[in-house]
Amino acid sequence: MEAVLNITGGPVSGTIRAHGAKNSVLPILAATLLGKGVSIISNCPDLTDVHATLKILCHLGCKAEYDGGIVTVDSSSVTRSDIPESLMREMRSSVIFLGAILARTGQAEMSHPGGCELGTRPIDLHLSALQSLGAETFEVSGIIKCKAKRLYGNEIILSFPSVGATENIMLAACAADGVTIIKNAAREPEIEDLQSFLTAMGAKIDGAGTSTIRVSGSKEKLRGAAHRILPDRIETATYLCAAAMAGGKIRIEDVVPEHNAAVLSALSEAGCSITAESGAIELARYKPLRPMHPIRTMPYPGFPTDAQSPVMAVCTRAEGTTVFTENIFESRFRHVGELARMGADIRVEGRVAIVSGVGKLSGTRVKCTDLRGGAALMVAAMGAEGVTSITDLRHIDRGYERPEEVLTQLGVKAERIEI
Ligand code: EPZ
Repeated sequence: MEAVLNITGGPVSGTIRAHGAKNSVLPILAATLLGKGVSIISNCPDLTDVHATLKILCHLGCKAEYDGGIVTVDSSSVTRSDIPESLMREMRSSVIFLGAILARTGQAEMSHPGGCELGTRPIDLHLSALQSLGAETFEVSGIIKCKAKRLYGNEIILSFPSVGATENIMLAACAADGVTIIKNAAREPEIEDLQSFLTAMGAKIDGAGTSTIRVSGSKEKLRGAAHRILPDRIETATYLCAAAMAGGKIRIEDVVPEHNAAVLSALSEAGCSITAESGAIELARYKPLRPMHPIRTMPYPGFPTDAQSPVMAVCTRAEGTTVFTENIFESRFRHVGELARMGADIRVEGRVAIVSGVGKLSGTRVKCTDLRGGAALMVAAMGAEGVTSITDLRHIDRGYERPEEVLTQLGVKAERIEI
């Protein structure tokens, strides 16, 4: 059933709570394959990507269920080592299962995740890293096959601090003989969350959050564990942008403010007053929006690429020009056309977008082009005159739990209408 999200712009006021991080749940659910037993993962957001991941676990032979934010996985028996194309198509980030399935069963097979709205999304770093651990990898007519009777620890230097490749190596290395050192590892908070879950499972791993991660693998299986997912820093950034755009004041609880340092600094430059204490962030904006210094997306702790489009939406109403450079993905400006339909003035030249603030945005019918592009449309709607109707909500539902309820808690007229 198709649905449309109608949002009427206007000032915000209220308190919300961040949900668990999508980009932490996915690798942690894959990690449950490394242990034989029951894992209880709490603070899991109710997202289509999470449910797609549970379908993959069940396909592989696990018992996995979602009940009110708590996921229970029993990975005592794994009977398959393949992910069918239908499930890969549903969620391309299932490539994160490669290392875990290989570690558990000695082989893995999945259709090539292919590209997505953000670009070609190669997985060469994943495959070459798994080869360094002793795996043989083949690509035959769109199917990727990996085999490894044994995995052996090794030193791996990533040419780019890829989040997914770092996670795949951490998972495979847990079952390797000997020590694996990952250099130029991704430093995102979700990597630290994965490390704390793996440690709870009995793995010997340290260094997550720095560029060098060390894993002492062992053949004996890890055990199931309990874990609470860390707060979603990108969801938090999105709703802070919504408030910055709308004006007014909001408080977001159950967050880790330092995970949003780059975004908080950009929003305070735009004229927001922000206070951050342990576990909560308050943002108020009553003055006109100002432009920001050039925004360049970088690996963590630099400015997060996932926050680029929501922050860009804020800049469309600033009194001046802000320049964005997207350094992580090759085409992450697909939301620009839809923002232009609302009256935004944005010029794109390759990886650079020049945003000239306009006096007003007008609500109209727009469609999501991708997950964070959809987030940008929600933010823009908060500062637009009239009603904005957002379609193709499947993109938003991948990464935001019932946004219409969150916006309503902030005093905004937001409703999802099934059509
Ligand atoms: C993760 O994607 C996140 N997804 C992305 O969030 C996020 O944007 C990205 O990290 C960067 O922070 C999940 O965690 C599920 P990468 P991932 O490997 O792991 C290139 C969202 O909106 N690359 O760090 O795929 C790649 O093409 C999503 O929640 C290779 O060249 O990101 C890209 O240009 C979108 N070869 C860059 O590295 C490889 O083998 C960053 O990719 C792998 C990646």
